[in-house]
Amino acid sequence: MTTEIKVCMGSACFAKGNQENLEYIRQYIEENNLDSKITIIGSLCENKCECGPRIIVNDKEYTNVKTYDLDKILEEVK
Ligand code: FES
Repeated sequence: MTTEIKVCMGSACFAKGNQENLEYIRQYIEENNLDSKITIIGSLCENKCECGPRIIVNDKEYTNVKTYDLDKILEEVK
């Protein structure tokens, strides 16, 4: 099954940490050879900026995501 990771690229989420989060996810995918299993999609602001940075993994929403949360999230989908 392919996992879809949606990273909010709206200005608030991006500035609050999704720039780093996106880079972290990209690296993780590369290091673990997960190109065929995980797809990253940039999404537009959904007006939930106050709980950003937001990342949605297969329709499950994660809020206030920091790079150190990503290991756990990515480990689950790997
Ligand atoms: S910028 Fe991400 S919800 Fe608004």
